[in-house]
Amino acid sequence: MKPPAYDIDLVEFSKDPYPFLKEMRAKVPICYVPQLDAVLLNKRDDIFICEKNIEVFASSQPGGLMTVLMGENMMRKDGDAHMHERKAIFPTISPKTVANQWQQQFETLADEILDELFKQNEMDVVADYAMRLSSGALKIVTGLMQADWWDMDRWSQSMIDGIANYAGDKEIEKRCNTATAEIDAAITERMEALKRGPDQSMLSVLLGSDLPESSIRANIKLAISGGQNEQRDAIAGCVWALLEHSDQMDIVRSKTIGWMQVFEEYSRWMAPIGMSPRRINEDFTYNNIDFIEGQRAFLMFGSANRDEDCFAKPDIFDIRQDTAKSIAFGAGPHFCAGAWISRALVAGVGLPKLFEKFPDIKISGQNDSRFSGWAFRGLNQLRVDLH
Ligand code: HEM
Repeated sequence: MKPPAYDIDLVEFSKDPYPFLKEMRAKVPICYVPQLDAVLLNKRDDIFICEKNIEVFASSQPGGLMTVLMGENMMRKDGDAHMHERKAIFPTISPKTVANQWQQQFETLADEILDELFKQNEMDVVADYAMRLSSGALKIVTGLMQADWWDMDRWSQSMIDGIANYAGDKEIEKRCNTATAEIDAAITERMEALKRGPDQSMLSVLLGSDLPESSIRANIKLAISGGQNEQRDAIAGCVWALLEHSDQMDIVRSKTIGWMQVFEEYSRWMAPIGMSPRRINEDFTYNNIDFIEGQRAFLMFGSANRDEDCFAKPDIFDIRQDTAKSIAFGAGPHFCAGAWISRALVAGVGLPKLFEKFPDIKISGQNDSRFSGWAFRGLNQLRVDLH
């Protein structure tokens, strides 16, 4: 049968998608949402199974907004073509490189930012800490060391807005084109130096591979668009969750459960990436639902991570919870390439160093922190008193 239709109010969905997703899981776990013109897969195990079926749930989307605006990167390729590019960046993203190269540099970066912040009485965790740390780390990992951290953040946001610009807003498209042109200029500026003195940054490693320059540029843009706001949102979100749930903070302080589990549970509970799109490559029936060639399908990671059949307390932030079934980083061949990098940055450096430097940190009275977004979800701000 055709997937049943489910209507959403896009404004409300963006404010808080979770009540909608809960109802979809209960009544229409695979459904067509006219406002998104897509078939949504909402149950964790359905996504876990279907994502690996790349013959049907294809990533390649020729003519799609991401490909048009940012070039064709690995996230929009399937099978061997995808694996080839994925292998090319492995020397940058491997757990060994993260431990031997990036961890130390992330620590130095966090110390510098925190020393500066120490002079202040209060800050916005999102803009003053999480954004700077995430951007700085991305400069190191991509190899675009000459970029300003605020440019990294603007580039990332402009590309994300651009690839979600289904309504074709000209201003959004222009901002995205400006960002990609600036990234191209930054890549060109760094190329010669990295050819003379290669390192393990993504740009350097890709320049040493057999990928054409267009793919190198497209994948650097992908890392910036995909690596900036998720880490920013995860760092700020974890801080908020711990400060709001003092019982959870007490568990961390007692050292019975570590920072890694804070990050894993937060990413389950408030998935920074709530959705990954696919294109139906051929007619297909799954669980009695007919998928039609050419249809758009959305793998709803945010919904999967609150699946009542997989988690004991799906709607509650509880770091004692078993997160083994979380698919916050995906569940197939496109599993997040930056997973080890972000575990090191968020759980290994960003959170422990902040709470060590500011043991008395607390949410300020002057606060208007709100979560928003369903495809990408994070806090708008988080004002805290530091001392
Ligand atoms: C909290 C941090 C992060 C989260 C939650 C996250 C989540 C995700 C998710 C859900 C996907 C799609 C998986 C799929 O479709 O199966 C993805 C893909 C990807 N991510 Fe991340 N990500 C994070 C950080 C990063 C960072 C720091 C980088 C780069 C340095 C990065 C680079 C990528 C790349 C390149 C892909 C595409 C992989 C492929 O197509 O094979 N991510 N990420």
